[in-house]
Amino acid sequence: MRVGVVGVGHVGLPTAAVLAHIGHEVVAMDSDTSKIAALKDGVMPFFEEGMAELVATGIDAGRLSFTDSAEVTVSGAVAAFLCVGTPPKSSGEANLLAVERAAEEIVKVATGDLVLVEKSTVPAGTAQQLTVALRRHRTKHRFWVVSNPEFLQEGRAIEDSLRPHRVLVGSGSPEALAIMEEIYRPIIEQGAQWIATDVATAELAKHASNAFLSMKISFSNALARLCELSGADVIEVVRAMGSDPRIGTEFLNAGIGYGGYCFPKDLTAFERLADRFGYDFGLLREVKKINDEAVEAVFKKIEDVMWNLQEKRIALLGLSFKPGTDDTRLSPALRLAEMLLEHGAQVVGYDPKANANAQREVPGLEVADDVYGALQEARCAVICTEWPEFAELDLGKAADAMAFPIVIDGRNLMDPDAMDEAGFTYIPTGRPPRGVGPHPD
Ligand SMILES: NC(=O)c1ccc[n+]([C@@H]2O[C@H](COP(=O)([O-])OP(=O)(O)OC[C@H]3O[C@@H](n4cnc5c(N)ncnc54)[C@H](O)[C@@H]3O)[C@@H](O)[C@H]2O)c1
Repeated sequence: MRVGVVGVGHVGLPTAAVLAHIGHEVVAMDSDTSKIAALKDGVMPFFEEGMAELVATGIDAGRLSFTDSAEVTVSGAVAAFLCVGTPPKSSGEANLLAVERAAEEIVKVATGDLVLVEKSTVPAGTAQQLTVALRRHRTKHRFWVVSNPEFLQEGRAIEDSLRPHRVLVGSGSPEALAIMEEIYRPIIEQGAQWIATDVATAELAKHASNAFLSMKISFSNALARLCELSGADVIEVVRAMGSDPRIGTEFLNAGIGYGGYCFPKDLTAFERLADRFGYDFGLLREVKKINDEAVEAVFKKIEDVMWNLQEKRIALLGLSFKPGTDDTRLSPALRLAEMLLEHGAQVVGYDPKANANAQREVPGLEVADDVYGALQEARCAVICTEWPEFAELDLGKAADAMAFPIVIDGRNLMDPDAMDEAGFTYIPTGRPPRGVGPHPD
């Protein structure tokens, strides 16, 4: 089938590559013409494991192409996937201007009946509003706005798009649902659950999922604070809790908090949506508050071990908001970097993929070419992102490089016994610290 994809960001590009991989003829466009030009030259706009290869295969097979023209994107297409950004307004509500603009541009030049697929995360009611707005254009052809929320996780976007747990589509039109089911058939046949529902339910399910996942993380972070106060070990507590299948252990890792382009903005947008309907969803505010406190707790630990922060060199290991991506949008590591810089510390970071993005966002941040370079002469190191290479550090070499071998583990990545044996003062999250306190001499 011929499909168009609008927006080649973290959702649009994997979507386009995967739709081409499963046999469709895909044309992808973006209003950022530099991204399109780079993609035509085989340069990816961001890092995602396996994406460059899948994009290249799609292009070579003649099933994937890039354009900056709406006409080319939609010519002969049965569906157009809207994957544009929905950033927060200052009120916290989702800004839907890009969705409206992209949809207008596409629908005006459609060459036949078209399914407009809302893949961007939007508040419940958006498809209905968009339909009303688009009808004003008195288009020649019929169109249906369907909701098809995206659940991929950055860092595993290709795998998640190829083998999602579910394909959720909301629409009141059996015709549109049939087209969507046909597009996704190869993925459904491989085991993804096909969930067809009404459009508002699909839209709301996406916000509800992200809010629930954020809540799980904040629950663990609140638990971590209590463990630190009571001497318990949050990892053991979660293991004990998670043995109950009603709870499970997934997504209950205590740490420096969640970040990225989705959870923070979606949580607030969901709360604003509830407000609009007159429901005070106070739980969501508490989730955000605990998340803010998670990074503040790490800052406090640094202050506790460092005393004065001015001019002290502090290393941040990991700058992206999660491993497997170079995305630093709302990364807790960068929030911590800013707090440390404001207090006069000298902050040096290292990330396997995100150094350039981090430095662009926080110009005062120094970046090192490798992890040992970041640790060199540092008085304290903080693990902010759980990249596997940090778990495999040569601990002797790391301790030798540092001015003082002090590690604050914001992701509970390291083995406390190994850190203790290597002579580190080791301060994890929600677990008993090692090597802290006055020495006997
Ligand atoms: N990043 C994720 O992990 C993720 C996961 C699930 C859902 N989402 C949702 O998907 C949507 C997109 O997120 P993203 O991370 O891919 O954003 P992004 O910023 O990486 O990409 C958005 C792209 O849309 C382009 N764009 C904006 N307006 C356009 C227009 N009128 N026409 C054509 N292109 C236009 C931008 O240039 C950009 O390349 C958001 O609603 C987000 O909440 C994101």
